Amino acid sequence: MSRLLVTGGAGFIGSNFARYWRAKYPDDMVIVLDALTYAGNRANIADLEDSDKFLFVHGNILDQTLVEELLRKHEIDTLVHFAAESHVDRSILGPDAFIETNIVGTHSLLKAARRVWLEEWEGKRTVRFHHVSTDEVYGTLGPDDPAFTETTPYAPNSPYAASKAASDHLVRAYMETYGLPVTISNCSNNYGPYHFPEKLIPLVITNILDDRPLPVYGDGLQIRDWLYVEDHCRGIDLILKSDKVGECFNIGGDNEWANIDIVRLICGLMNQAMQDEGNRKAFPKAESALKGKAENLITFVTDRPGHDRRYAIDATKTKMILGFTTKESFATGIRKAIQWYLENETWWRDVQTGEYRQWIAQQYDL
Ligand code: NAD
Ligand code: TYD
Repeated sequence: MSRLLVTGGAGFIGSNFARYWRAKYPDDMVIVLDALTYAGNRANIADLEDSDKFLFVHGNILDQTLVEELLRKHEIDTLVHFAAESHVDRSILGPDAFIETNIVGTHSLLKAARRVWLEEWEGKRTVRFHHVSTDEVYGTLGPDDPAFTETTPYAPNSPYAASKAASDHLVRAYMETYGLPVTISNCSNNYGPYHFPEKLIPLVITNILDDRPLPVYGDGLQIRDWLYVEDHCRGIDLILKSDKVGECFNIGGDNEWANIDIVRLICGLMNQAMQDEGNRKAFPKAESALKGKAENLITFVTDRPGHDRRYAIDATKTKMILGFTTKESFATGIRKAIQWYLENETWWRDVQTGEYRQWIAQQYDL
């Protein structure tokens, strides 16, 4: 039986991970630590909260004393670190929060883990610090370049990617210098339930439902490698259960898509979804999709500065050593994601706060 501290567990991937873990390992204790920033939402984990094997703690990863107390009091043996500022566009407009949370916050967690696990417990218990990172630390690829492997040199281009790269280095340094048992995963773009609607896929789905423009940056030919969020959780599970302490693992879906193609695909699927009588009634504002013409909403806007052209993950190591495979194909995963947003309108309307609308309006000048 394990006792997990999941930072950022009220965000997109962290909440999916907490749900995945509760279902797969019902005897394990899962404690979510989350500061509930604009991206964190207690509704994401509401269904987990009635179990005595689950606890939500509202707090900041920068609070080293709090984290140490949690490690001691709940005898945490596994720390899974998702908490971060995660949106590239926000990092371009205001990098400070990214430096603070992603770098200083990760360092604060490392210090707490070192103090309790290594100094107080004298390294006698089996523990693990797993750091959840991104493929964006590797920079950008040309059209014919091979996909990123675990040995691709780091070359981050956005403040977000640079802050994640710095945190990866700190995690590694704590292993090399102090012997903290760490693992790191670098994953490609995730999609699925509870994805905050400022990111491409949920933004396109929810904007179609409100008949708003679909902003496509630049020529729309940038490529991302999309993975269903539960497959990411499964990859982290395999890493946590392995004895490969000190190793980094790439997680990806072998699923490269140009942004414009993904936007067009979603438009087609939304046109189809609006043929359903229930959906037609539920979303009367979705005028373009109701007419089978959601693609009319596509609007090319100014490109993101320093926009990485292509990401692609080579997950051979994770497949060969840990037996990682994806369970969700993109054809099924994207339909599941769309269906989730159709069935959870209250959720995405609730997270679209005033702050969110202001951000979107400022961002796209729409
Ligand atoms: P998210 O923005 O949806 O969630 C982040 C969560 O962290 C939120 O619940 C937020 O409240 C919490 N948080 C932020 N600052 C905090 C702080 N100082 N203390 C405590 N909690 C804090 O992000 P996500 O998309 O779920 O990403 C989770 C992790 O996975 C991040 O580390 C991100 O870099 C990484 N990642 C994301 C993707 C992706 O496609 N979304 C891909 C690869 C890796
Ligand atoms: P995003 O979901 O923000 O993830 P990331 O920047 O971490 O890859 O964006 C995915 C891709 O979609 C990225 O190339 C930027 C592009 N994009 C748009 O074209 N329009 C949008 O409105 C958004 C949010 C993203």
